[in-house]
Amino acid sequence: MNFSNVYKDDKRADAYSKLQFPGTYHLAFRDLPAIISEHVTGKEALDFGCGSGRSTRFLQKLGFRVSGVDISKAMTRKAREIDPEGNYYAIEEGDFSQFKEGSFDLILSAFPFDNIPTMKKKVMNLRGLRNLLSDEGRLINLVSTPEIYTHEWTSFSTKDFPENKNARSGDTVLIIQMDTEEKNL
Ligand SMILES: C[S@@+](CC[C@H](N)C(=O)[O-])C[C@H]1O[C@@H](n2cnc3c(N)ncnc32)[C@H](O)[C@@H]1O
Repeated sequence: MNFSNVYKDDKRADAYSKLQFPGTYHLAFRDLPAIISEHVTGKEALDFGCGSGRSTRFLQKLGFRVSGVDISKAMTRKAREIDPEGNYYAIEEGDFSQFKEGSFDLILSAFPFDNIPTMKKKVMNLRGLRNLLSDEGRLINLVSTPEIYTHEWTSFSTKDFPENKNARSGDTVLIIQMDTEEKNL
């Protein structure tokens, strides 16, 4: 099966770049400052799957020096547009060679693993990220539960896609993002 990254097009990147922390996103990010301050020492951070930089700027505000990486050029272009002083890099999947091993105290992964389709790719990315962590470094991996595709949420709707309930690993599932102007599918 061929998988493609839904975040690679400019229209979606534009919509995503206007998204702050409404609705369900508020809950996803709400507890991060406390978790980070309890478990992370040091100020060097990597934002894996930075998108248009929302999560990168979130870490900047917590005092981190952050590099954001993403496989979507449309997303990193937007991130640079919003935050010209920030460090945003478009990478090929799993290629972290531009970063020094052991150089990050924190790696935040805010939802890219929702979009990494196979176990092989997930493992490859996690291995690569692990090598970038310092000895005391921590990786925080925010992921959605499968219920995101079968329930109604403040920020997401799936009621029009009952077939999601029977989806097996590898099947396509549909979801509407409610907080963007165009209600992205
Ligand atoms: C739901 S968006 C989240 C963006 C950002 N972390 C935020 O919270 O605003 C997921 C991002 O992960 C990126 N992504 C998906 N697979 C990736 C991979 N293998 N490596 C790096 N980024 C990836 C997508 O291009 C997309 O920009």
